[in-house]
Amino acid sequence: MRKKIVAGNWKMNNDYQEGMTLFSEVVHMVKAEVNSSTEVIVACPYIHLHSFGQMANGRIRLAAQNCHQAEKGAYTGEISVKMIESVGADFVIIGHSERRQYFNETNELLAQKVAIAIKQGLTPIFCIGETQQERESNRHFEVIREQLREGLFHLVKAEFQQVIIAYEPVWAIGTGLTASPGQAQEMHAFIRGEIAGVYNQEVADATSILYGGSCNPKNAPELFAQPDIDGGLIGGASLKARDFTDIAKVFNDRG
Ligand code: PGA
Repeated sequence: MRKKIVAGNWKMNNDYQEGMTLFSEVVHMVKAEVNSSTEVIVACPYIHLHSFGQMANGRIRLAAQNCHQAEKGAYTGEISVKMIESVGADFVIIGHSERRQYFNETNELLAQKVAIAIKQGLTPIFCIGETQQERESNRHFEVIREQLREGLFHLVKAEFQQVIIAYEPVWAIGTGLTASPGQAQEMHAFIRGEIAGVYNQEVADATSILYGGSCNPKNAPELFAQPDIDGGLIGGASLKARDFTDIAKVFNDRG
């Protein structure tokens, strides 16, 4: 059975105190309401990781939103995988469309980030997704295949098995437009097929593939009911403890 995962991506929101307040609400609600079989992850800004690590009590696991591709050195302003691990995070988001778009992160660079994260024991949540224009010109499958090939498929099987994938159509992120459950399922099945082609069916069946893009408590139940959708990467709705917990609860009665 694949792991069911609900991960919140706070992006660049909340100062230190605001973050502390929100996180303590999330810890409280998730502990009380979400089945322990659902993995709940919060990807907060770096400044929160250490404090949240002390508050999470093992129930919520932490992710950084980015990392640098080098082990260490003269890269002013950057944060390494080792640093992230040293404050208690287990995951790192790599290749979010905002990083690709605003910070010019290419598949080639992302492949390096994935490699160092895996080598040093941090689990990548690797994001892929097509733009609206790419979907309208019917290139979405091609784009996703390329992102997978160039960003992830350099990994050997044992490394790839550490990866979580998040499919986030760029046109759905922060826009209120969600992929329909059918559109999302179609792409998730395609992604799983690509993984099976490169590694094998067993590896593909064990890979958690999350959906992201305007996911909320209303649309999550139908999205998460799709056979190839194993949870969500939640942006806006993760900034409200109630909404985030309601999304994380979706798997409660599904065993
Ligand atoms: P959204 O963001 O839920 O606000 O659309 C999702 C994401 O960017 O991970």
